[in-house]
Amino acid sequence: MAKLSYTRDELMASHAYARPHERAGYKLHGGFLADGTYVSPRVLNRWPAVTAWQEQLTAKGWPLIDATVQLLKRGNYPNIPQERFLLSQGYGQPFWNSLTITGVIEARGRALCDLEAPDFQTIIEDDISQTCTGHLHKGLLYAHGADEGGDPAEPDYGAHDAMWFAARDLVFGKDRYPLPEVPESIGRPDTGRLMPQLPAGFEQLILLLMNVLMIEVRAECFFAFCCAIMRDKDVFTDRREQAEEAAAMVERIRTDEAIHVGYLQTAISEMRSFTFKTVDGGTVKGKDLIDPIWEGMVHWHAVTQADFARDQTREAVRAELEKTPDGARLFAEFDALDDIAKAA
Ligand SMILES: [Fe+2]
Ligand SMILES: [Fe+2]
Repeated sequence: MAKLSYTRDELMASHAYARPHERAGYKLHGGFLADGTYVSPRVLNRWPAVTAWQEQLTAKGWPLIDATVQLLKRGNYPNIPQERFLLSQGYGQPFWNSLTITGVIEARGRALCDLEAPDFQTIIEDDISQTCTGHLHKGLLYAHGADEGGDPAEPDYGAHDAMWFAARDLVFGKDRYPLPEVPESIGRPDTGRLMPQLPAGFEQLILLLMNVLMIEVRAECFFAFCCAIMRDKDVFTDRREQAEEAAAMVERIRTDEAIHVGYLQTAISEMRSFTFKTVDGGTVKGKDLIDPIWEGMVHWHAVTQADFARDQTREAVRAELEKTPDGARLFAEFDALDDIAKAA
């Protein structure tokens, strides 16, 4: 039978790398095996653990919730033809800004290292000692934070923030544009109590896990977009080699993110199967508690926020293009490449 219970040290353990991960002048987390395969940091046991918890859950008849880009109703904005058009006209700043902002937001993920996560066992009737949910406060959240913004205990190694900046500098050249302003938050704003049956701290943690899972799903859409643009032979024509290297860097971040989707998807799926103790001394089925909240979270990220971000980006591109005499025509051309506008 697969191992289902892990210590914090086991969950933090990394592979023995044959070669360190050093690129574009940055010393980075993770490493390469002897055959050249990149391996993420701290996944020696995390992947086997997540796989075992998933198998245990599905064997009990509970499916894993969908956590693929299928959840997203909108593609990346700008889309690939639009981005190609902007770059061909010499407008690199929007893409430069996206790469920088993504790096800064990744670094904020390190806050998960400092999170004093409560033990879910106190509000769940089932024994959760052999589940993903039962390990959230035993290293899973800390490992995730370390992957995003660097392990506070190993400050020499750059994490996703450094990897995005390295990819950006490879593709554009260092200091090609000024650094943009970064939004304060990319999660759903506070909506007041949504699960009054639970103590507030647990509600906040469940919403945090759901928010982060959807941010990871949206990130997957951005990875695919970045790789397609960076590998396009018709853009960054004077920096093809560096652009290919940048795409490889993004692929390594993408590899690292898979474990985040994996454990968050597992924990939320498990919670649907549990029975929760409520603050008034009763119980509630996890499915009844979780499903409407998850549905609302998916909708906010996939539709509400996606449409808002699209309008903002579109206006920013308009403002940028309209600085030139030919701006109105260029913007009309940019707009015509938009699938949504075309369909409307
Ligand atoms: Fe990340
Ligand atoms: Fe992540």
